[in-house]
Amino acid sequence: MADGTKGKKVLFICLGNICRSPIAEAVFQWVVKKQRGLVGWEVDSAAIGSWHVGKDPDQRAIQVMKRHSIPMNHQARQLKKSDFAEFDYIIGMDHDNISDIKADAPPKHNAVVELFGSYDPEKELIIRDPYYDDDDLGFVKCYEQCLRCSRGFLDSLSV
Ligand code: 4NP
Repeated sequence: MADGTKGKKVLFICLGNICRSPIAEAVFQWVVKKQRGLVGWEVDSAAIGSWHVGKDPDQRAIQVMKRHSIPMNHQARQLKKSDFAEFDYIIGMDHDNISDIKADAPPKHNAVVELFGSYDPEKELIIRDPYYDDDDLGFVKCYEQCLRCSRGFLDSLSV
């Protein structure tokens, strides 16, 4: 069984780091601290691309988190080589993210690279990309998926 007494370091990745991965980071952090009462975990998120570096999350993501009273404080940053040494888990939202993460990875590293959706008890493998939507329904869906996957991930570690 995994050592549930020691916090893990988890990095969430999406294409732009303004929609899916900051939601994943915020929801996961909230479940870790507020629902499971775990300490010593480090949670962050980052982008594959550099287009939005330094920006706040999309306004629709901010509004969905506000409605659920989940704190979200993040400025977009890009995935870097040192992340592969720093984090235990590097978690992508879709298959393209996983391919891009693996393409960026140094030849030898210990980070586990996985799809967040692989932890969904409802087996929805791909986290909804809401960026091009005209409304916020995709952000609501993304939040719901991230909540299920956060719980599923922690359940898988028995913490
Ligand atoms: P995210 O959404 O990867 O969930 O942050 C996107 C953000 C920006 C772009 C695409 C997806 N973009 O093409 O700029």
